[in-house]
Amino acid sequence: MRHFLDINKTDPADLRAMIDNARAMKDTRAGLPKGTPDLEQPLKNHIVALIFEKPSTRTRVSFDVGVRQMGGETLVLTGSEMQLGHGESIADTARVLSRYVDLIMIRTFDETSLLELAENASVPVINGLTDRTHPCQIMADILTFEEHNGPIAGAKVVWSGDGNNVAASMIQAAGQFGFDLTFTGPTQLDPEMVFVEEARAKGAKIEIVRNPEEAVKGANLVVTDTWVSMHDALSAQERRHNLLRPYQVNERLMAAAAPGALFMHCLPAHRGEEVTDTVMDGPQSVIFDEAENRLHAQKAIMRWCLEA
Ligand code: CP
Ligand code: NVA
Repeated sequence: MRHFLDINKTDPADLRAMIDNARAMKDTRAGLPKGTPDLEQPLKNHIVALIFEKPSTRTRVSFDVGVRQMGGETLVLTGSEMQLGHGESIADTARVLSRYVDLIMIRTFDETSLLELAENASVPVINGLTDRTHPCQIMADILTFEEHNGPIAGAKVVWSGDGNNVAASMIQAAGQFGFDLTFTGPTQLDPEMVFVEEARAKGAKIEIVRNPEEAVKGANLVVTDTWVSMHDALSAQERRHNLLRPYQVNERLMAAAAPGALFMHCLPAHRGEEVTDTVMDGPQSVIFDEAENRLHAQKAIMRWCLEA
C-alpha cells in the first residue's frame, strides 16, 4: 500500500512520475469548466475522507475538487467534531475509517498522529500538513516551477524567513529532485538540521546564509511563508516578527536574485509582513498558479496512492 507521507519517504522516480502525470492531467483539462469530469475516472466508486484538525482553504477545496474531477466522492471531517477530538485514539480512528473509505487525507498538528494513522489504516494516507512538513504543497511548487522555468534539477532555490514545515518539505525536495537550496533566516528559526543533512547526503547543495541579499544571488526561485504558523503560539508573534523582519521578500531582495527569478508563497500570505504587495502582485510572482497546481499535483498523488 502506498501512503504519501513525505517527499523524502517517496521514491524519486515516483515523485517525478507524479509531477509529469499532474502536468499531463492539467493540460487535458485546459479551458474546461472546473466541474467537467476527467476522461479517465480513476476514483469512480471511491470515497475519500479529508480530515482537518487545523483551518484550510486551498488544501480543502483542491482535494475536494480533485476527487470529484476523478469521479470520486469526499467526506470532509473536522477533528473536533469527530470522536478523535474527544479521546478516541488515532489508531482506532484509522481502523474504523478504513472500513468505510478508500483513501484518507489528514491535516494535523503532531507528525506522530499522521504516522500512527498510516500505520493503522488499511487504506492509503496522505499528509495534508503537519507541524513538521507539507509535502503536497511542495509537489505543487515543483510543478509550478517547471511550467515556468523548465527542469528544477540544478536550479537554485532560496527560502527566506522561517525554517518551518513548508521549508522542511522544500529541503527534502532538494535532495529528491536534485536542486540547490539556500536557507536565509535567523539562527533561532533554522530548519531542523536532520532535513539539511539528509538532503546533503543525497547530493543536494544546501547552504545557510544569514545575509538575505547575499543568499539570493543567482536564485531562480525565491520562496517565503508566514512568520507565524498555525502551530506556533500566538504569544511568540512579536518575537518572531522581530527576528524575521530582515528576511521580508520585497522588490530590493527580488532585484538581487537572478534575472527572471520566480517568487512563490504557499499562501495564506500576510501582505506587508513576510512579503510586500509589489512582489505578491508583481511579474515574478506565480502564487496563484501555485495555488491552482495544488489541485493537479494532488490528483496525481491520489492516483499514485491508489495504483498500488
Ligand atoms: N497552502 C495551503 O496549504 O493553504 P491552506 O492552509 O489554505 O490549505
Ligand atoms: N507554515 C504554514 C503553512 C500554511 C499552509 C502553517 O503551518 O501554518
